[in-house]
Amino acid sequence: MYLVLFLCHFDCKSSIFFGHMQVFLYFCSQINRKMDIFEYIEQHSSAESDVLKQITRSTHLEVINPRMLSGHVQGRVLSMISKMIQPKRILELGTFTGYSALCLAEGLTEDGKLVTIEHNDEMEDSIRRNLALSPLGKKVELMIGDAKESLRLLGDEAMRREARDTVNDRGDAFDLVFIDADKKEYCDYLDLVLPLTREGGWILADNTLWDGHIIDPAYNKDKQTVALRAFNDKVAQDERLEKVILPLRDGLTIIRVKVAKE
Ligand SMILES: C[S@@+](CC[C@H](N)C(=O)[O-])C[C@H]1O[C@@H](n2cnc3c(N)ncnc32)[C@H](O)[C@@H]1O
Repeated sequence: MYLVLFLCHFDCKSSIFFGHMQVFLYFCSQINRKMDIFEYIEQHSSAESDVLKQITRSTHLEVINPRMLSGHVQGRVLSMISKMIQPKRILELGTFTGYSALCLAEGLTEDGKLVTIEHNDEMEDSIRRNLALSPLGKKVELMIGDAKESLRLLGDEAMRREARDTVNDRGDAFDLVFIDADKKEYCDYLDLVLPLTREGGWILADNTLWDGHIIDPAYNKDKQTVALRAFNDKVAQDERLEKVILPLRDGLTIIRVKVAKE
């Protein structure tokens, strides 16, 4: 009798075990499938420059959360978008180790400039060292400080210049903006960035699908998820903006600021 009960118990446990095992193996196969596709995409996209490879390597060696770096494929997308737009002025929020700044700078005009803002002053030396590895680094201006405060400073500067030189009305507006700093502040960033962006200009926002959490009720109390949902809703509802979310990596939103008379 005990033996029968034991065997039933074992059988029941083992079927649960094998059930879990099957689910686990299914997810592994899905992850592998995704990795295979990702590897395929990497192999069939333009290679990273040696400088970008070097920055990736040093970021992995020196920084706690290297996953924040845009990486090969997203870097090529940023570079490609920038080359399509050929911006004279780019603004980036969230420099990290300078990887995405150098990718975006690839599309700048000859006399173009990229302003990038990073609040972590401990990163300053490595950012400057990384930027100096590339000739494009000369076109990059690093602002160390909080993104919102720095945006307000840039706004004040633009107002002063406009008052002084009405002919150059909005001549210093940004053609392309990349939002990639504090996820909880994306709504405020949008409000502060819009007056600094030229009509017909472009805004890119990274991580807007937040690892799929954006549609997962389990993350309803997660501050970053809640803020990113609010950002996505705000962008979706704003009729001045044309927008599309690309399911690239963690989600990349492309926004076009419509021209007022369109
Ligand atoms: C995802 S990383 C940026 C990655 C980088 N754009 C790239 O693709 O290589 C986000 C960066 O934003 C910075 N950051 C976070 N909050 C910020 C704030 N309030 N103001 C400015 N930078 C901030 C972080 O220190 C971090 O370096």
